[in-house]
Amino acid sequence: MARKLTLIYYSPTGTTRKIVTAIAEGTGLEYDFIDLTLPSSRSQTLEFGSDDLVVVGIPVYAGRVPALFSESLASIKADGAIMVPVVVYGNRHYDDSLLELKDILEAKGAYCIAAAAFIGEHSYTRKVAAGRPDAEDLESAKRFGTEFMSFFNSETDSFVQIDVPGKQPYKERKPSKPVAPVTDDSCIECGICALSCPTGAIDMNDFSSTDPNLCIKCCSCIKKCPTEAKSFTDDTIANFAIWLEENCSGRKLPEIFIREAALKET
Ligand SMILES: Cc1cc2nc3c(=O)[nH]c(=O)nc-3n(C[C@H](O)[C@H](O)[C@H](O)COP(=O)(O)O)c2cc1C
Repeated sequence: MARKLTLIYYSPTGTTRKIVTAIAEGTGLEYDFIDLTLPSSRSQTLEFGSDDLVVVGIPVYAGRVPALFSESLASIKADGAIMVPVVVYGNRHYDDSLLELKDILEAKGAYCIAAAAFIGEHSYTRKVAAGRPDAEDLESAKRFGTEFMSFFNSETDSFVQIDVPGKQPYKERKPSKPVAPVTDDSCIECGICALSCPTGAIDMNDFSSTDPNLCIKCCSCIKKCPTEAKSFTDDTIANFAIWLEENCSGRKLPEIFIREAALKET
């Protein structure tokens, strides 16, 4: 069945973008993408219908869909669209995020025929899931795209919706104190940080100044800075990064869900 494939994603440090792009390649379809990472992109109307196949990718934040992304989906129309929720997490856990994303999409009228959880380098430290998604992850992502397309092509009339792990009420979002990265002398004032900040928290006239009340601690500025001039000096974040390094180093594997079956990659 011919459908138009669209990728929708939010990806401050780029790992989610890599995964959804590999999934799209695996489907063999041509695709458009809607990158909702920057504030200017999040005002557009998102409207899909029964001719659409949409892969929706998010990074996991505290076991949930990032609040900012949920807000962007508040007005999405998805009546009869086939959607594939995908979460990318930093090798700790994805908790309730995949269920939450699937629930959001289904509440908007989508049919979720497949879903997946992949792993990306942790935003807070380069030492957890370092360099992921790697070649193996991208191969799994491509294979996932190929697999759900073959199921999709064989099921023309009725779509069986899938079950994914997670529970309601979803993990509680705990308020965190307003902090922002600091900038050291190696800053070359290229402005990449400010141009790529998902909340516009960095002052366009002074790249070393970030509004802690707008900063969502996504680490885009830290990971994209060409001179590594940005870092969090806040103790809570520094200690959390150490905790992750000590407790989340064992390689987790992608999990894919197509119909009722959860297939763990080997
Ligand atoms: C605020 C915040 C919260 C996060 N919470 C989790 C989490 O609960 N579990 C986890 O494994 N990784 C967590 N991560 C790591 C990201 O999910 C992971 O690094 C992801 O690959 C980032 O996606 P991106 O490159 O598309 O921004 C968190 C990252 C941030 C910035």
